[in-house]
Amino acid sequence: MSDAELLARADAVAERAYAPYSGFHVGCAVLVRDGTVIEGVNVENAAYPLGVCAERAAFARAVAEGYRPGDFVAAAITASPCGGCRQWLHEMGVGHVVFRNGGRVVTMTTDELLPESFDSSNLT
Ligand code: THU
Repeated sequence: MSDAELLARADAVAERAYAPYSGFHVGCAVLVRDGTVIEGVNVENAAYPLGVCAERAAFARAVAEGYRPGDFVAAAITASPCGGCRQWLHEMGVGHVVFRNGGRVVTMTTDELLPESFDSSNLT
């Protein structure tokens, strides 16, 4: 599947976001090595900090399905990933990330999104 097709999946699933507080719908589509696509949307809450981003929703689903870091070829997001989600994308070892940002489509590696990141190697 191409990056454009994966981003189209993210665009489509964003319509199912639950974002009554911000009104900002985000979709994420993750391509797994076996060809499976796993989708997520942002899910907000009246207690604002409890909301979850689309990326984390997608990766939580993927891990529950049995996938692990190293299984993820690419992730497409309808918005520029927030700082916390950049940490998640790095943890998940995603090959590359494609996202919309101000009318542009940007493709970056997780190292480019989060240089000098904190990861398991820092825990030793
Ligand atoms: N949001 C995401 O889902 N992913 C991001 O990386 C950026 C922000 C959501 C969180 C909140 O529901 C809404 O966008 C506005 O910040």
